[in-house]
Amino acid sequence: MMEAAASPVPALPPPTHVAIIMDGNGRWAKARGLPRTAGHKRGAEAVRRAVETARELGVSYLTLYAFSAENWKRPAGEVTDLMGLLRLYLRNEVKALHKNGIRLRVIGDRSRLGDDIVALIEESEAKTAGNTALTLVLALSYGGRQEIVAAVRHLAGQVRAGAVDPDDIDETLFSANLFTADIPDPDLVIRTSGEQRISNFLLWQCAYSELVFLDVLWPDFDRADFEAAIRTFHGRDRRFGLTSG
Ligand code: IPE
Ligand code: IPE
Ligand code: MG
Repeated sequence: MMEAAASPVPALPPPTHVAIIMDGNGRWAKARGLPRTAGHKRGAEAVRRAVETARELGVSYLTLYAFSAENWKRPAGEVTDLMGLLRLYLRNEVKALHKNGIRLRVIGDRSRLGDDIVALIEESEAKTAGNTALTLVLALSYGGRQEIVAAVRHLAGQVRAGAVDPDDIDETLFSANLFTADIPDPDLVIRTSGEQRISNFLLWQCAYSELVFLDVLWPDFDRADFEAAIRTFHGRDRRFGLTSG
């Protein structure tokens, strides 16, 4: 008699929104005696892998922290290199994103980005707007505190203009004034490189995210690491303030 094939363990549903603080490019390069740019280049390859994996695993939103508001304070040469890689990514990868049904969204302060990069972002967002397989959110020139301050300023202006009653400002209205207005909060936040901090990433949105810190440098982050983080996530008990058990 033929052995019945082992029935596959039903896969747990993937987290809807995974956000990643991609850290450790510099240390990856340093460990190899290479310039930091080499680490950022390999980091861009890890981005490609992570996007592909997220899509294959059925994640609906993948947010990648690519450049923080504070990263502008790095040496000019490194900022130029990072902007160059971003340009290359937008020029070369969007076609593949579109082919794979991926929608691109960019959050952050665009006023500090070069005009040509802003044009590439707008073009890419428009081209991929109708895609539904995965939403890739790139956080560029992004800071959580700056985002909150901008929302407060906008709401204050509306109050002054008589368009909003202060009593109507609640969590829903406030969230609607963030870059992430139409994006669900992250279920899982992964940070690579062993650092255990948030570094101004999605401060409001991470209120109830599960945090997973991995001892892998971003250029080395692969599918196995992604899956391990999701397994850790599934082992967590999300309570949202309710009683345990
Ligand atoms: C992450 O790697 C990339 C950015 C923050 C732009 P780092 O450049 O921060 O690498 P480390 O932390 O110095 O290793
Ligand atoms: C956080 O990494 C920002 C990004 C990954 C884009 P950093 O390397 O800038 O964070 P800190 O300075 O170690 O907190
Ligand atoms: Mg770092």
